[in-house]
Formats: sequence, structure tokens, C-alpha cells
Amino acid sequence: MPLDLPSRPRRNRKSAAVRAFVREADLAPSRLVLPLFIREEEGTQAIATMPGVSRLGPDAVEAEVEGALAEGITTVILFPLVPEARKTKRAEEALDPDGLVPRTIRRLKGRWPDLVICTDVALDPYSSDGHDGLVDADGRILNDETVEVLCDQALMQAEAGADIVAPSDMMDGRIGAIRDALDAAGHTGVSILAYTAKYASAFYGPFRDALDSAPRAGDKKTYQMDPANAREALRELGLDEAEGADLVMVKPAGPYLDVIRLVREATALPVAAYQVSGEYAMLRFAAQHGALDERRAVLEALLGIRRAGADMILTYYARAAARWLTERPA
Ligand code: PBG
Repeated sequence: MPLDLPSRPRRNRKSAAVRAFVREADLAPSRLVLPLFIREEEGTQAIATMPGVSRLGPDAVEAEVEGALAEGITTVILFPLVPEARKTKRAEEALDPDGLVPRTIRRLKGRWPDLVICTDVALDPYSSDGHDGLVDADGRILNDETVEVLCDQALMQAEAGADIVAPSDMMDGRIGAIRDALDAAGHTGVSILAYTAKYASAFYGPFRDALDSAPRAGDKKTYQMDPANAREALRELGLDEAEGADLVMVKPAGPYLDVIRLVREATALPVAAYQVSGEYAMLRFAAQHGALDERRAVLEALLGIRRAGADMILTYYARAAARWLTERPA
């Protein structure tokens, strides 16, 4: 005798076709943004804490972008490795119109005008203090002085051809100030992707290895958000929206799915999430040691971020995921 059940949810799971038919969240290569670590010298250099990710010289960057485009990825974000000798207290290198970032933008845009290029607006790769903002003699991070420099940095990136500038510094008021600076210079078409809820996270460790950008003293807790706080993300969201952000971001992604959901429900703007270097390292090292099936675990982690409400995901797995998504299902 069959059980007399009011409903049988398993009916919607009975075959691959039925499961695909009722699936709620999806992933596609066009949703993925590929972060690129760029360097001056030709060739590539492995990053020990991020196996499979390298710092790329100019030719290698082009090869990487060519591959990513062929796999359906449309958007990249650039992070420069600045030699120690050129890092300064006031991070002047961040403003050089002939610096590594603007040169890379011009080169990539020259070859692929439709490639969407995002740039990081923050001083840490260029700062001898390893902070996102300017540091005073007492070790304090200066807000308003930093915002002025960030406006010049964003402007320089826009002039070089960046499509989207992404302030990751968490200074107060920078979205509005950058919007005004861009508009005043005629760059009304350049978008701002605000790192709206960026947490003071342990999961940025491998990224700081990649760029040699760890704070030389102190930590980032006076500007990045406290991992205990979710409501505060809504306060940042309100400000970023009012100041003119075009897209907003939550970062990291996996440990902050509740924040992604909260932000998703509170805004009509596109919401991005950044699966950061430490999240990549966790998956990658576990897979390398046979603890996880990498493909299944990565796609599950990314799908979870989508299900939580992210429209787009920045991930070091962008290329691998794009390939896995377009292959026949395993
Ligand atoms: C800094 C910046 C960081 C990341 C992106 N931009 C690190 C930090 O705030 O220290 C981290 C990304 C990652 O871990 O993958 N402006």
C-alpha cells in the first residue's frame, strides 16, 4: 500500500530533465568576473597560496583574456603587483597615467574593445604602509584626504578606458566624490561598482601574498566592516545608492550569504559577490588533497552565492567554472 501522502517532493527530482525544468538558480559564464593579477615583467609567476593562479606579465594577460573570452567570460578586474621600490607613503604610483594598470587597460581595449574592464580603486598595492588609505604619523587612516586621491585614481583609470571603477577601500563618502569627479571630467558613462559591504576578513590572506600588500602595521578594522554585523550592510547600501553607485558588492561571499540575501532584498541595483582568495584556497587545497571533488564543490559554492541573490560573482574559478558549465553534465 502506498503511503497516503499529501505531497511527494521527490516527483520533481525524478530525472535530470525534470530537475533542470524546476531548477531555481542558475549559473552562466556571463555572470562570472575573472580577477587578474598583473605584473610588469613578461612571463608568469605562481602564487604559492593560490595554486593555479599566477601573476601575469603583459603577453600572459592577453593569452588569459583570449582564453576567458573564448569560454564566455566578458568581464575582468585588474590588480597590479607593484615592485617594493615603487611603493610610497602617498602611493603616487596609483595616479601614474603610464602605470601598469592604465597600460594594461589600453592594450586590452586596443585588441578587444567590447571586453568589460573593471579596476580596483584603493591604495594598498601602491602604499608602503599596505593600507587602502593614507596613513598619518600616528597610524590613523585618513578618510577625506584619501578620498581625494581615490578620485584622481578613478579618473586616471577612466581616462585609460576602464568601463567600471570599483572602490574597495571602504572610506566614507568615496562613491559620491568619485561620481562627481568622473562626471566633471565628462566620464558620465563610466560605472561605479561599490564594495558596499566589505568585511575585515581573514579570507584575504592569499590575495595579500599575491600583491605583497599586507598592512605593514595594524589591521583594516577601522575601515572594513566587522564580520559580526549584517544590518550595518544596509546602512552602507543606503549611502552607496544615494551617492550614485551603479552596482553594489558583498565581500567575501561564502561566509556572508545572509548579507548577500539582505542586500538583494533591499536594493534594485545589481548585486555582485566576491568569492575571495581564501575561499578559492580552501576549495583548491582541499581538492588537491583528495578531500573534495573540485568541480562539484566549486559549482555548488558558486550556485549557493547565486541562490543567495548575487547577480554576478567575482571568482578565481571563473575560467574553470565557465568550462565546466558549458561541458556536458558529468
Ligand atoms: C584591497 C583589496 C583586497 C581584496 C580586493 N581588494 C584585500 C584587502 O582588503 O586587504 C581581496 C580580494 C581577495 O582576497 O581575493 N583593496
